[in-house]
Amino acid sequence: MPGPVEILMHEHRIIERALRALRGVCQRFEKGEAVPADVPVRLVEFIQTFADRCHHGKEEKHLFPALEERGVPRDGGPIGVMLYEHELGRGFVREMAEAASAYARGESAAAARFVNAAQQYMDLLAQHIYKEDNVLFQIAQSVLDAPAKTGLAEAFEREEAALGLGTHEQYETLAGELERAWAT
Ligand SMILES: [Fe+2]
Ligand SMILES: [Fe+2]
Repeated sequence: MPGPVEILMHEHRIIERALRALRGVCQRFEKGEAVPADVPVRLVEFIQTFADRCHHGKEEKHLFPALEERGVPRDGGPIGVMLYEHELGRGFVREMAEAASAYARGESAAAARFVNAAQQYMDLLAQHIYKEDNVLFQIAQSVLDAPAKTGLAEAFEREEAALGLGTHEQYETLAGELERAWAT
């Protein structure tokens, strides 16, 4: 069984594939090109389910509490920063979701709103993922002992089961499809 840090890092790589697709979609919108309305909607759905519910859920419900128990500070420390950034991201995603539905209803002006929120989200996530990969997850590797790592990996599996069997794989496939179709 891969360890919890390896699982979360692998999920970062999947999220990055969808973010490359999102960047390509934004570039098309900025050039005034039409994008099929289901594409921004599917990107938002990927972010809400895979990036936020599944991935950030594992971090918030399991990894961060395990690190806190081992003395990694929350307030004024790296965990507090990560939690704040998750919340900030949720705000941008809500805005993207509203803009994507408006665009799907035929409001072409919503494309600019979508791009604006998506750019803030992409900037946020790029540096958020960098900090987790290079700082917080490195701390996790050193403070978590083997039983704690096994416990976390098992908790992650239970989260996957709660999300529905095969859901994770479906979203992983979707990220690859969106990247092939839309990344520039
Ligand atoms: Fe995170
Ligand atoms: Fe993360």
